[in-house]
Amino acid sequence: MKISIMTLFPTMFEGFCNTSIIKRAQEKGLVTIECIDMRDFALDRFKHVDDTPYGGGNGMILKCQVVIDCLNSIRTPDSHVVLTAPIGKIFKQAKAHEFKKYKHLIIICGHYEGIDARVYDYVDELISIGDYVLTGGELAAMVMADATIRLLKGSIDEGSVEDESFEDGLLEYPQYTKPSVYDGKEVPKVLLSGHHKNIEEYRMMMSLKTTLENRPDLLEGKELSAKQKELLAIIQQEKNK
Ligand code: ADE
Repeated sequence: MKISIMTLFPTMFEGFCNTSIIKRAQEKGLVTIECIDMRDFALDRFKHVDDTPYGGGNGMILKCQVVIDCLNSIRTPDSHVVLTAPIGKIFKQAKAHEFKKYKHLIIICGHYEGIDARVYDYVDELISIGDYVLTGGELAAMVMADATIRLLKGSIDEGSVEDESFEDGLLEYPQYTKPSVYDGKEVPKVLLSGHHKNIEEYRMMMSLKTTLENRPDLLEGKELSAKQKELLAIIQQEKNK
C-alpha cells in the first residue's frame, strides 16, 4: 500500500519513517510512505498557508486552496482520504484493519489553530486519536500510519497481532521474560509449568481481569464464551471478598 501524508512539517516524519518496523516494512516493499509539504502549494511569494478567521477570533486558519490543490495533485480513484481533527470520530483498532486494505491512504495533517471547514467536503472522513487537543495532526498521522502498517502481512510476526490488546475486544494479559525472579518478584508459577491448557486459562483470566480493572467499558455488551463468563464470575467473587 501507499500512504501519503500531507503536512506543513515533513521533517517530523523522518524519525518515524527511518526507524524499526516502519523502516523495515518499507524496505520489504509492504508500504511506500511519502510526505508532501503543503507549503509548496501556497500561491503568494511569501508562501502563506493560513489567514485570519472570518467572523473574528484568535489564531490563523489553514487555507482551503492550499489543502485542496495539494490533495488534487496526489489523489487517484483508489485514494481514501482522512483528515486528522479533534472533532473527528475516534481512531480504533478496527479502523486500522480497515485502513490496511486501501491501496492508497492519504492523511491530511490538520493545523493547530484550525482548517477551513470547506476542506471537509473533499475528504472521506475526519479522525481524532483521542479526547485531547494536539498542536497539529502530525502525531495523529503517525499513530494511524503506525497502527496500520504493523498490520500489513509480513510486517510483524502474525501471532503477535492475534494475541494482543483489542484484537478480541479485550486487553492483553501480562507478559514476562527472564529472569524468573527479579528483586524478589516472581513470575507466576503457571507460566513456568509448561502446562499449555493451564497457561491458556490463566492468560484468559488475566486478560479479563485487566480489562475489568482498566477498561470496563470494553466488557459492556460484549459476547463472552462460557469459559470467559465462568472466569469473570470468579474474578468478581474475588473482588467482592
Ligand atoms: N489535531 C489536534 N488534536 C487532534 C486529535 N486529538 N486527533 C487528531 N488530530 C488532532
